[in-house]
Amino acid sequence: MSAPSPVTLRLAQPDDREILEALLSRVDNFDEEEQRVALELIDIFLGDGPTAGPEGDYPTLVAELDGTICGYATIGRTPFTESTWHLYFIAADPQRRRAGIGRALCQACAEFVGTRGGQRIVLETAGREDYGGTRGFYLATGFREEGRIADYYRPGDDVVYYVWRW
Ligand SMILES: CC(C)(COP(=O)(O)OP(=O)(O)OC[C@H]1O[C@@H](n2cnc3c(N)ncnc32)[C@H](O)[C@@H]1OP(=O)(O)O)[C@@H](O)C(=O)NCCC(=O)NCCS
Repeated sequence: MSAPSPVTLRLAQPDDREILEALLSRVDNFDEEEQRVALELIDIFLGDGPTAGPEGDYPTLVAELDGTICGYATIGRTPFTESTWHLYFIAADPQRRRAGIGRALCQACAEFVGTRGGQRIVLETAGREDYGGTRGFYLATGFREEGRIADYYRPGDDVVYYVWRW
């Protein structure tokens, strides 16, 4: 029996767009609006506008297993802050969950941010039941819950803020 392949990380490239779009369409808890916005950020990163690329607004990393894209994350320096970054989106292929892809993406994002002087990564996610696994993932990968606004998304659906600090 061979050992499981390690997850490898790199910046997204224009050729990855179609695969990322297909991956987003398969993420069970992303609705159409979330998929659209996630793709918009990827397009800004991959484009040739003034905020494109790794030093632009939405650096996007992809994770590969056996040479196949199995997850991705989009981060960005938070406007108007000195050293705060945001994790905007992270997703692992639904067929390859619990294989360490999300953890590897978080580590890669932290390295990327750390080498650019970032001191914290903030993210917001939903408080509703179907995001329970996602919240468990953030707690398991080093984020701490640091805030919550009740009924933010809709009645009964809070926003929960998580922070990763150096
Ligand atoms: C959240 C997500 C990225 C996690 O990716 P993943 O590759 O499955 O996570 P990992 O395998 O790296 O998990 C690392 C640890 O997090 C925890 N974890 C992961 N998924 C979990 C779940 N559903 N419930 C509870 N804990 C979980 C576990 O402790 C896990 O370690 P273990 O498997 O050794 O027990 C993935 O579930 C996903 O794409 N979800 C849908 C999209 C989403 O909600 N994104 C976040 C909002 S932008």
